[in-house]
Amino acid sequence: MEMGLKIVMWKVLLMVVALLCSWVSCGTASVSYDSKAIIVNGQRRIFISGSIHYPRSTPEMWPDLIQKAKEGGLDVIQTYVFWNGHEPQPGKYYFEERYDLVKFIKLVKQAGLYVHLRIGPYACAEWNFGGFPVWLKYVPGISFRTDNGPFKAAMQRFTTKIVDMMKAERLFQSHGGPIILSQIENEYGPMEYELGDPARAYSEWAAKMAVDLETGVPWVMCKQDDAPDPIINTCNGFYCDYFSPNKAYKPKVWTEAWTGWFTEFGGPVPYRPAEDLAFSVAKFFQKGGSFINYYMYHGGTNFGRTAGGPFIATSYDYDAPLDEFGLLRQPKWGHLKDLHRAIRLCEPALLSGDPAVMPLGNNQEAHVFKSKSGACAAFLANYDSHSFAKVAFGNMHYNLPPWSISILPDCKNTVYNTARVGAQSAQMKMTPVTQFSWLSYNEETASYDDTSFTTVGLLEQINTTRDVTDYLWYMTDVKIDGDEGFLRSGYYPVLTVLSAGHALHVFINGQLSGTVYGSLEYPKLTFNQGVNLRAGVNKISLLSIAVGLPNIGPHFETWNAGVLGPVSLNGLNEGRRDLSWQKWSYKIGLEGEGLSLHSLSGSSSVEWIDGYLVSQKQPLTWYKTTFNAPPGNEPLALDMGSMGKGQVWINGQSVGRYWPGYKASGSCSACNYAGYFDEKKCLSNCGEASQRWYHVPRSWLNPTGNLLVVFEEWGGDPSGISLVKREIQSVCADIFEWQPTLMNWQMQSSGKVNKALRPKAHLWCAPDQKISSIKFASFGTPEGVCGSFREGMCHAHHSYDAFEKYCIGQQSCSVTVAPEMFGGDPCPNIMKKLSVEAICS
Ligand code: GAL
Repeated sequence: MEMGLKIVMWKVLLMVVALLCSWVSCGTASVSYDSKAIIVNGQRRIFISGSIHYPRSTPEMWPDLIQKAKEGGLDVIQTYVFWNGHEPQPGKYYFEERYDLVKFIKLVKQAGLYVHLRIGPYACAEWNFGGFPVWLKYVPGISFRTDNGPFKAAMQRFTTKIVDMMKAERLFQSHGGPIILSQIENEYGPMEYELGDPARAYSEWAAKMAVDLETGVPWVMCKQDDAPDPIINTCNGFYCDYFSPNKAYKPKVWTEAWTGWFTEFGGPVPYRPAEDLAFSVAKFFQKGGSFINYYMYHGGTNFGRTAGGPFIATSYDYDAPLDEFGLLRQPKWGHLKDLHRAIRLCEPALLSGDPAVMPLGNNQEAHVFKSKSGACAAFLANYDSHSFAKVAFGNMHYNLPPWSISILPDCKNTVYNTARVGAQSAQMKMTPVTQFSWLSYNEETASYDDTSFTTVGLLEQINTTRDVTDYLWYMTDVKIDGDEGFLRSGYYPVLTVLSAGHALHVFINGQLSGTVYGSLEYPKLTFNQGVNLRAGVNKISLLSIAVGLPNIGPHFETWNAGVLGPVSLNGLNEGRRDLSWQKWSYKIGLEGEGLSLHSLSGSSSVEWIDGYLVSQKQPLTWYKTTFNAPPGNEPLALDMGSMGKGQVWINGQSVGRYWPGYKASGSCSACNYAGYFDEKKCLSNCGEASQRWYHVPRSWLNPTGNLLVVFEEWGGDPSGISLVKREIQSVCADIFEWQPTLMNWQMQSSGKVNKALRPKAHLWCAPDQKISSIKFASFGTPEGVCGSFREGMCHAHHSYDAFEKYCIGQQSCSVTVAPEMFGGDPCPNIMKKLSVEAICS
């Protein structure tokens, strides 16, 4: 053969191998992928993953959270890496305590789960500055997340640092560790759309930079349709069934299945019904998906000043299956656990090929997966959000509730329906365990001291504070002549202050004159009020407050905060006086911050006065107290409902910003699980504090003598603060007769029974609780939800009997949902259900 031809053939061969390698497991990498799934050690797998962000809980909580995730049927934990937590100053790294990334990953491994590591290093995540250190903004010539030399250099340095760390600890699967996937960037698609060519160049660069790090495991880019090969582009959203990856040889991966949504100060608290979440996940698998991650599985807490936004609340509960405090959120946790068991039973069929799709009605269809070895799994879907559907499939009939999917792991028997919740629900309560007696210390309205400085005009806040504190004082003097007309007319002149955000307290001669604040949607604000000025020199002191830096949006690093002006006085003899360009003095942070009043040593540096002597609702006040840890191991929280706005610390650690004075505006009308969900559909807390309770991790407490310090900006009543424990108040079951159950199916398929069995109502309180009474029980057509059940038209008169007999005094119990348990069928030929609520104490 001619030499030239040989070379050409070689090249062709190499290209074929390269192409094959991009979709078949190749080389030494132990994690790869093909069109169906992520492949680990040569095996296609269905992966069910959940986000737990390590700094949003404490290392002491991690093992329990991971264990509960495992029991919930997860096999992967996903987390971002939080750059600003790890590199607070350039080149100074921190990987301790809540930022002990390696420890977190090792704990996941110990539990036998995998990890999806989203290195980013842009995170978004409602985290301060999207995870970027604030110093990064001040690197000369920098522009974030685009084709910019200084940014790319910094990003590459940090990404490499993390990858090297993971390699050194042998944490990638390719080295026997738990990490099976990584992520570079985050939701860059929308940015690319906005920023055009430089963004495309940056994205190509980021992909190549990541791949060149040779981790041995695949990378993903989420919400980025043009993610370059071999990176897998993935979907984020409330539903992702419609999504397909950009190449036929990539698997269908859902990196963020939103379990709920975040809370912002001033906003209501969003929740997402378990039935709809389960529906969206079943639909994703039904359409050939093979990797799903719940964002969040445990949301946790934005401790300290880690919340982004601005205006993101301290709680990042997210209505996740594990609540902020690490307790099971029922029925969501249990309903998903049941879903995961049903999906697992289908795994062999799901992974073997594309489903056959057949219509079952106008708005109903079946997806049938068959493997060569004979496995068959079917998903029967009813997309109608109003009506039940009776459908024929195989030679059987199935009744599908509205907006639901039934799962048949053998193509015959239903083991699960997304709208039929077999798991119990739980009502939680916050029981006060400790009240406090307070000492107080008044923070002076800023005065000029050695830390203040003076300049002409108004300064941008973040450039000035570098975000070491929320607070920046703007102070100026205003001279009022004795002949000013307003001094006699009694009409106050109006002070107008325009601020880029986020909140502002206005003090005139040391007295709080008014407060204004923005919101996440509109952080800017204007103060426009009459102010009490006197003849002579008046001190105007503006306390401007940043409530978290933005974490999303094109070039959010350039967004301003603070009083940028104009600042003016109206209603003087001269008309309007512009104060913007006169001399302003600045003071970064509070006096109490400078003295570290939140810490043990700092708090003894000033004279505190007995709390009962101070007038209540006093702005700019520090409060302190000491207390002993309450016995038990229930999670703890501070009830801050009587306070306005500020920050709170325990033993020197910041619990976070509190702001119960900001009431949730919005409409919280009843919400049905059926029909498309978005973050505005199901809301609670309207008219109340967006966040009243603030998580106090048990591990932050000593047995005795804990120091609790509160800084109140606005004026609150500290006598209303209490420490509460969170526990189950009651548990409920709400179960239809003939509801499908996995247990039933297992009995049938193992030949133990040959007809469908009745479902059971399982009730269980916490391990240290017992069922003390039955608050409600009705077999028939009861109405309402857990906590407010009521009897319907049809009610079996002996509904309580079985529960009284089998449950009282027990930690858990089960009762079969069949008419004979309740004294006979109260209304034959009507579909009945059982609703029961048991009190735990
Ligand atoms: C996504 C983002 C996440 C988080 C989420 C909302 O778009 O990737 O980091 O911000 O939205 O909670």
